[in-house]
Order: sequence, then C-alpha cells, then structure tokens
Amino acid sequence: MTRHLILIGLPGSGKTTVGRLAAERMGLPFADCDTLIQRETGMTIPAIFAERGEPYFRAVESRILAALCGGPAQVIATGGGAVVAEENRKLLKKQQTVVFLDRKIGDIARCVGNRERPLLRQYTLEELARQRRAWYLDCAGAVVSDGTAEELAAEIAGIWRKA
Ligand code: S3P
Repeated sequence: MTRHLILIGLPGSGKTTVGRLAAERMGLPFADCDTLIQRETGMTIPAIFAERGEPYFRAVESRILAALCGGPAQVIATGGGAVVAEENRKLLKKQQTVVFLDRKIGDIARCVGNRERPLLRQYTLEELARQRRAWYLDCAGAVVSDGTAEELAAEIAGIWRKA
C-alpha cells in the first residue's frame, strides 16, 4: 500500500497551509481535496453546497479521497468534513500516516472566515468539534496541536520519518 501523509481536522485548522509546508520539507507532492473538488466540478465550494447540496459535495469528496489514497505517495489535506462519511473513516483508518491537526478552537476562530465555508453558516466550530472530534481521534495515528505553521510542518515531517 502506498504511504501518504494525510491531514485531518476542523475547518480553518490550517490543513492546507501546514500540509503544503510539510510536503516541501518531505520532498513530496501536495494535494488539497477541496481544490480538486472545485476543479472536478468547475464550481466553488459555496456554489456546490447552494446549487447541488451537501450530499452531492460529500459524494464527490469521497470519490476524490479514495482516488488520492489509491494514487502515488503525497501529502493530502482533506476537507474538515472528510470524517463524516463512514466509508471515508474506514479508508482513513487503513492509511498509515493520518495526522489530526488539533488546534484550539479559539485560535481557529481568529483566522477562519465563513464566506468560503458554508458549513460554518449552519454550525459553530464548537458544534462541529462536538460532532467530529471522536472521529478525528479515531482515524488519526498521530495528533499535533500547538505551534506556528512552520513548527507544525516540522513536527509532521518528523512523524513521517519515524513512521
Ligand atoms: C467542510 C470543510 C471545508 C470544505 C467544505 C466542508 C466541513 O474544508 O470541505 O466547506 O464539512 O467541515 P476546510 O476544512 O478546508 O475548510
């Protein structure tokens, strides 16, 4: 099985920023699920939610996650809701290096906007954390929390080397 470094965590926890930096350090390509969903559908995420609905978004998300996990080794930043579907959780649990970016909600709230994140118009970060935290912990083999994006990327690269 190809080994990937997969980042999971709440929206706005920095999966894309930290993932990109970690990929540079690790000398691996970087893939961002949300970017690929937008490329494949030709729509922005808010437009997908508004015009096609969340179930359609989740179906595309699951398909792309499965394709990435079946592809070459890379750093993969998932969307915050990747753990919602049971099939995704099963897939994530089979992967070798899944890291939960467990930043404090107060820190996330300072840097997250809800314009591009339709789910945050419906739920607060606290509500999403209550729904999902156990799933993130269940799917992850490692948890990182505090530090700058550079520090977190260095920690993740260390986890990758030791795994
Ligand atoms: C979502 C998180 C978003 C994006 C979509 C749904 C969620 O990704 O996939 O808006 O359900 O938490 P980020 O975690 O990158 O914001």
